[in-house]
Parts: sequence; structure tokens; C-alpha cells
Amino acid sequence: MPSPWKKFVHSVFPLGWPRSHRERLQAVRGNLWLHVFPARVRTGSLHPKATLGLGLITFNLFVILCLSGVWLMMVYTPSTALAYRDMNDLAHVVSGGRFLRNVHRWAAHLMVLFCILHLIRVFCTGAYKRPREFNWVLGVLLFGLTLALSFTGYLLPWDQLSFWAITVSANILDYVPVLGPPMRRLLLGGEEVGQAALLRFYVLHVFALPTVAFLLIAVHVWRVRKDGGLACSDPELRGKEDPNANTYVLTWPHLLLRLMLVMQATLILVFICALLWDAPLLKIANPAHPPNPSKAPWYFLGLQEMVSYSAFWGGFFIPTVFAVLLLLLPYVDSNPKGAGYWFSRHRRFAITLFAIIIFSLALLTVIGLWFRGTHWTWQWPWGGTRI
Ligand code: HEM
Repeated sequence: MPSPWKKFVHSVFPLGWPRSHRERLQAVRGNLWLHVFPARVRTGSLHPKATLGLGLITFNLFVILCLSGVWLMMVYTPSTALAYRDMNDLAHVVSGGRFLRNVHRWAAHLMVLFCILHLIRVFCTGAYKRPREFNWVLGVLLFGLTLALSFTGYLLPWDQLSFWAITVSANILDYVPVLGPPMRRLLLGGEEVGQAALLRFYVLHVFALPTVAFLLIAVHVWRVRKDGGLACSDPELRGKEDPNANTYVLTWPHLLLRLMLVMQATLILVFICALLWDAPLLKIANPAHPPNPSKAPWYFLGLQEMVSYSAFWGGFFIPTVFAVLLLLLPYVDSNPKGAGYWFSRHRRFAITLFAIIIFSLALLTVIGLWFRGTHWTWQWPWGGTRI
């Protein structure tokens, strides 16, 4: 006679631990979460070189952020009078608070970084081409959401760094003709960064943006399956000499085991960063004393650098054209050749153009990060001496 516990477990998992091929197929098909995967996957898509695991790492970072964020919410108050005190408490009073904040902070930076790397990988393998055009568009929206998530979180510590970084970035909106100033007021809840802005950023950061991101990620990953799996046509990945080339293997265990390994690796990476480097916390925000220079978060520094040359071109025209081109890319470049191949020779022009754009953006970011000093003048990264 089975015990009540065994009966309970059986009611939740009627199939039990799958032991045969048939049961593993059923396990994937019958589980809400595993159902985003097909029951079988192509061997080529399991090759590390196919995706470098970048989309998965980005997803894992999102999960880490949600979990650590819920924890942080138990300590944090979105008020200009209390937020900074709470951050100090996290560092000095709450046990494990500093580590938790570090985990959240570094996972946020890493998510932006890995999202960019994932975008670059998808471009370089031509994986946005038919039938994956719409998934690319979803990806671009996810990229915007990732930036928005990180940006809204940036203000919450309410120290000099966060206050002025958000002030500088929000001011860039003023360069958008007609719509810019009202958009900025809507975002900040007034003319300046203050209590209204802090509350708006908080609600966006902990509820609105993560919810939309979660839903979009679900559709994005589901589309990978519906679009026929990953775009990997490269015979090298399928193993040309392998007699089983391009065969299908069971998702459980082949794909799931790899997912677990990448998840562990992501967690270890975040923990190492959190142990090695503390998240910064400067003095409490002081609207009367702007630091000189005031810099935007690193992912907007390229934009800030362009604005320093021309407010209209750098702050509005070039970013708008770039965003529109990124969204429309699969419809502009609809030639199916080279899809699923790394750096296909049929796409030399597109890849060269893309490389120039990415290199320029990286260069502008590096300049903004290390080569700009007081009054945005040129300086050497060491010692702050002028160039
Ligand atoms: C929150 C951000 C994102 C998450 C969590 C995410 C997640 C994923 C995952 C797990 C995959 C399948 C495996 C892999 O490629 O590693 C994938 C594939 C894909 N992603 Fe993303 N992604 C994100 C952002 C983006 C961005 C910014 C783009 C491009 C603009 C993009 C475009 C695509 C495309 C087209 C595929 C299919 C690739 C193929 O078939 O080879 N994604 N994404």
C-alpha cells in the first residue's frame, strides 16, 4: 500500500523519473516548462559553437536578477529620505546584504553585456533570416527592455553616482525634437529627478518591465522552436565525418544536461564577480553638487559621447536611424544566403558594415569611460592628466 507521500508525489509527477526513451519524450511533452523545447533536437544545435550559449546565459542572468531582486525589495524603501539609508544598511547591517546587492548589481551589468554579445552572435550567424525575422524583432525589443531594466535600477541607490547618471541620461531626451521634453517629464514625473522619479523608476524596475520582459522572453524562446530550431546549417557543427551527422537526439538528457551546466557556470561567474568587487555607493544624492564630469551608465556613454559633438545628430538622428535599421534588418536584408553559418562569405558586405558600427560604438564607449575628464575634456585614463 503506497504511503500518502508517495501518492502525493505520484499525483504531481504521474510519470515518475523517466527511464526509457519513450518516457523521456513524454516527460518533455507533458511538462509546461519543458514544453518550450521540442522532444528531440538536432545534434548540430548542441555544439557549443552554434550559439556559444549566449541567449541562455542572458536568460539565466534574468532569473538571477529576479530572485536577488525580490530579496532586495524586503530591505529597500523607494523614498528619497530612506533609500540611501537602506543601501547603507545592506552593506553594514543586514547579514549577507552586501553580497546580495553585489550579485544583483553584477548580474545586471552582465545581462546587458551578454544581451549585446547574443545580438552580435545572431547577426554573425545570419540567424535573423527567414523564417526567424520576427524573432529578431522580439530580440531587439528585449534588448531595449534589458537596457530599460538596468537603467531604472541605476537610480534606486540614491547616491551621487545614480542621481547624476540618471539626470545626464534623462537630459539626452531633450534633444529629441517635439516629443523629447514631454517624454522626459513623463519619465521623471516633473522637471527634475526627485521623489516622483524614484517612485516611477521603482515601479517600472520591480514590476512593469520584468513582467513584460518575462512574457517576451517566453514568446522569444518558444519562437526558436516554432521557427524550426536554431539556425545552424554549418556542416562543421553537424560533424561532416560523423556518420550520425545531423541526426536528432532526445532533449532529455542531451539538451537539459547542457542547460544545467551553463546555468551553473553563469551562477559561478556572478558569484565570483560579487565576491571580488563591491557595488559602488558614493555619498547621498545632492542635487546642488553635480560631480564633474557627470557620466551616464556605461551602456549610454557612447550616446553621451556623440551628444558632446552634436546634440541633434548624436542625441537624436543617429540613435533613431540605428534603432529603426536594427528593427527592420531582417526585412531589409532578406537574401536567404548564409543563414546559419558563422561569417558566411555571401554576407561579406553586411558583416563588414556591422563590424564597423559595433567597433565605433565600442570605441565611443571606451572614450566616454576612460578618456573624458572634467568638463568632458580629453584626459589619460591614468592620473587624470589632460591629453
Ligand atoms: C533578454 C534578452 C534575450 C534573451 C533572454 C534571449 C534568449 C534567447 C535564447 C535562450 C535563444 C536560443 C539559444 C541561443 O541562441 O543562445 C535565443 C535565440 C535567438 N535570439 Fe535571443 N534572447 C535575448 C535577446 C535577443 C536579442 C537582443 C536578439 C537580436 C536582436 C535576439 C535574437 C534571437 C534570435 C533571432 C534567435 C534565434 C537564433 C537561431 O535560430 O540561431 N535575442 N534567444
